[in-house]
Amino acid sequence: MMQFDGNTKVLGIFGDPVAHSLSPKMQNAAIEAAGINAVYVPFHIRPEQLQDAVEAIRAIGLLGVSVTVPHKEAVMPFLDEIDSGAQLIGAVNTVVNRDGRLIGYNTDGLGLLKSLDQELGFNPHGKKTVLFGAGGAARAAIVALAQSGVSHLVVGNRTAEKAERLVRGFSGHFPGTSFSATSLESDLLQSALAETDLLVNTTTIGLHGEAFPVRAIKSLSESASFYDMVYTSGLTPLQSDAQGRGLNFTDGRGMLAGQGEEAFRLWFGVQPPDKIMHSQIAK
Ligand code: ATR
Repeated sequence: MMQFDGNTKVLGIFGDPVAHSLSPKMQNAAIEAAGINAVYVPFHIRPEQLQDAVEAIRAIGLLGVSVTVPHKEAVMPFLDEIDSGAQLIGAVNTVVNRDGRLIGYNTDGLGLLKSLDQELGFNPHGKKTVLFGAGGAARAAIVALAQSGVSHLVVGNRTAEKAERLVRGFSGHFPGTSFSATSLESDLLQSALAETDLLVNTTTIGLHGEAFPVRAIKSLSESASFYDMVYTSGLTPLQSDAQGRGLNFTDGRGMLAGQGEEAFRLWFGVQPPDKIMHSQIAK
């Protein structure tokens, strides 16, 4: 049982909704295992309360917060400083209170890279990648993968213009990566899938059991890896397909743990005890 006293530091997560979040369980387990005098609690913050809630971080002296849907972009103007990686992604998922100065970071991309390494043994350097989706989760993944030196990155999205806009924005930043954008139905996507080393799904398709709208896993080669950011209590249709084909694949739980570990490091200046966060969210 966690013990609190007059020196207990408080952290939390801002989200709407927030009740389903696994972060309090994960972070408190790590805090306890590390023997740190702190507690991490959920804060249900509606969009119209976000600015006041951010001010409250300073007023109450919270050590920091995680930021989740739908506040990851909206929180940015209320912070004092945005780390360069978060700026590039255009979203913040971790706020650190350094003596009243609020600094925004994004640890989602690092979480993905840690999980690719730990769960799939996949090193993105020099690899071909196809990514589904063009929202905030895609932006974090694109920056992380391009920074790790993927050679090709094909972004496939239902709304092709959104993928094109993303690719235009990022290609100048990462001259070592060849970017392309396409709709989900294109022949280009099918040939990219056949050649890719890695497929990353950043959309929420499958969360409620929906099938992916086009031929996806079946187009991959046998040696390809599949990273699905979606996680459910069972397997989504995409994940079942990947299992059926015997592919190297994993769901998004490792990324959740990885981003949480990086946030912990930013708040407390130490690594959380190994695997504690993973163990809290295992199936
Ligand atoms: P997040 O910030 O979590 O990435 P988002 O910004 O809402 O969420 O982006 C969701 C992504 O999933 C988008 O790329 C969206 O495609 P569109 O840009 O065409 O909207 C994609 N997506 C969501 N539901 C989808 C569906 N049923 N079929 C295809 N793509 C879908």
